[in-house]
Amino acid sequence: MTYRIATIPGDGIGVDVTAEAVKVIDAVLPGVSWTEFDWSCEQYLRTGAMMPEDGPQLLSRFDAILLGAVGFPGVPDHISLWGLLIPLRRAFGQYVNLRPVRLLPGTESALRDRTAADLDILIVRENSEGEYSEIGGIHNPGRPEEFVLQESVFTRAGCERIVRYAFERARERGRKVCSATKSNGLIHSMPYWDSVFERIAAEYPDVRTRQMHVDALAAEIVLHPDRLDVIVGSNLFGDILSDLAAAVTGGLGLAPSGNINPNRDAPSMFEAVHGSAPDIAGQGVANPVAQILAGSMMLDHLGERAAAAAIDRAVCEVLADNSIRTPDLGGTSTTTELGNAITKRAADLV
Ligand code: NAI
Ligand code: MG
Repeated sequence: MTYRIATIPGDGIGVDVTAEAVKVIDAVLPGVSWTEFDWSCEQYLRTGAMMPEDGPQLLSRFDAILLGAVGFPGVPDHISLWGLLIPLRRAFGQYVNLRPVRLLPGTESALRDRTAADLDILIVRENSEGEYSEIGGIHNPGRPEEFVLQESVFTRAGCERIVRYAFERARERGRKVCSATKSNGLIHSMPYWDSVFERIAAEYPDVRTRQMHVDALAAEIVLHPDRLDVIVGSNLFGDILSDLAAAVTGGLGLAPSGNINPNRDAPSMFEAVHGSAPDIAGQGVANPVAQILAGSMMLDHLGERAAAAAIDRAVCEVLADNSIRTPDLGGTSTTTELGNAITKRAADLV
């Protein structure tokens, strides 16, 4: 099987880490046909748009999309987010944002005494509605009675499908789902979310459930990660929890993410959790592991289980070996050196 895969390297370190991920994938799965799109903040400054108007249409004929990161100083973040990321997620029905969080072998965590066996969480983030909505606005601007409204949108269909997706994943893993709520503060949307969760949970009597306020759940990830398996949360809660969880496992350079269309009627899109890291862009020192693991998730989604597993094992073995690591992991290696080591190991494993 050959695949047509689109890449959008984007800005900053997104460009460097995507090159490494492509290299690793080529080593385990020959014959992938890559097409690169140079949509970025640089392009925005040149043309006034993050991507052409028919961008989604151009991408729709690919099997999957590998995205670096978009966003760079000089272009406001809402432009890069709403000009590219959010429209693509919505155009392609990628209503799941899947964020695995693992303590990889050989990496030092804030939870130093925990081992890889204690921390293996899958965050299922709602990716198409919730708190990220365009409904709202500033009223009476510039006047003393000025105020701003930002509405949240929780649809029945949207809540049901993401909760059900989380329960399906739990059946493949540890048979536990924890729902992030905040029904004490958000007294309309969150009790509704909770009621959907309870209704869907009744369909899965074999899966153990918990509902925790998102603040307590944040503490639980740090204090008792071993009690957690699948976490399901709204768009905002899932976003915040996954940066926290990534930091706990040793840094943003290690955390992958998939924007998944479970219906498979449009391409899914894979990216690292991190952004374009302007503070280290152009230095050749970004950790490529997050983007390489995003590549592994992409191959797994396409059904290439063996190639995906080879990448995953290669990452674990190279990290456990401890000799080649980028500065964020306490080493002095470059992006390319770590990428090459993983590529070589993955090619041997496949
Ligand atoms: P960031 O994730 O780019 O960086 C946060 C910190 O983590 C920085 O100190 C950075 O050096 C470090 N870091 C991130 N990735 C790393 C890696 N692979 N290796 C080593 N260190 C790494 O988040 P920040 O600074 O909030 O955002 C920078 C830009 O990226 C903004 O324009 C933002 O909008 C954009 N962004 C884009 C995302 C996307 O395209 N999906 C996601 C998050 C942010
Ligand atoms: Mg985020």
